[in-house]
Amino acid sequence: MPRRAKTPKWLNAARESGRTGGDWLLRALGRSGALPASEIEGALAAGRVRIDGKVATKPFTPVTESSRVTVDGVVVPLARVTRVLMLHKPPGVVAEGGRDKRPTVVDVLLPLLTEEQRRFHWLAVGRLDVDTTGLLFFTNDERFVQHATSPESHLPKRYLATVHEKATDAMLQPLRDGVTLDDGPARPASARLRSAGLVELTITEGRNHQVKRMLALVGLPVLKLHREAVGGLVVDVDEGAMRELGGDEIERLKTTAGSSLSGFTR
Ligand code: URA
Repeated sequence: MPRRAKTPKWLNAARESGRTGGDWLLRALGRSGALPASEIEGALAAGRVRIDGKVATKPFTPVTESSRVTVDGVVVPLARVTRVLMLHKPPGVVAEGGRDKRPTVVDVLLPLLTEEQRRFHWLAVGRLDVDTTGLLFFTNDERFVQHATSPESHLPKRYLATVHEKATDAMLQPLRDGVTLDDGPARPASARLRSAGLVELTITEGRNHQVKRMLALVGLPVLKLHREAVGGLVVDVDEGAMRELGGDEIERLKTTAGSSLSGFTR
């Protein structure tokens, strides 16, 4: 009988630290901006990183905010500072690289970053379909991803959908009442006709293709989709451009009415 591979001690420790709200080295370094994300694993392998004086080579070594982590002898700040970028996603850009070789949202983002921003590991906050344009956040803080994408946070996401010109307000009523999709009931949404053939739909969940599925269900297949705002923050840069949010904007996103703020205790 084949012997079951033994789980390495460092992996068990990482799992445990995840459960207890702790952290592990790779993630803490990526968030800190101590060195470019692409160099972190190499720096670990080369023995350039130490925790409390001891060389640490394992990416999942647990760390806490009181650990003293150094890279080449320089102390790395471990206190979590949440940074968030707003990208105005253009059409034709996919969330992740696949076989089709289309550019990804990260391909769009990277050339827009300053040298200082390039030192962080940026995580996309949720995903938009390849043909959807509009607001996409990136952050260095996985807790922000969790907060902004969890249905428990009730963070409102406002979309503008182009549909056929004969759409009426009455057709949107089932969306306000709450429709049942093939993966379960959708929360009642806020929906209105902004102009002929243009529906404004605000949802507080983020299931796969949710807006397209909701509108298709009421006889309004989506012809074009744009995400205009998240948590009340409207995309205000040109298509294909990005900017970094200010601390007050990030605070507002963390505390938008209805948000659970789970994981954001500081
Ligand atoms: N809902 C969709 O159907 N597509 C998106 O890209 C985002 C939300």
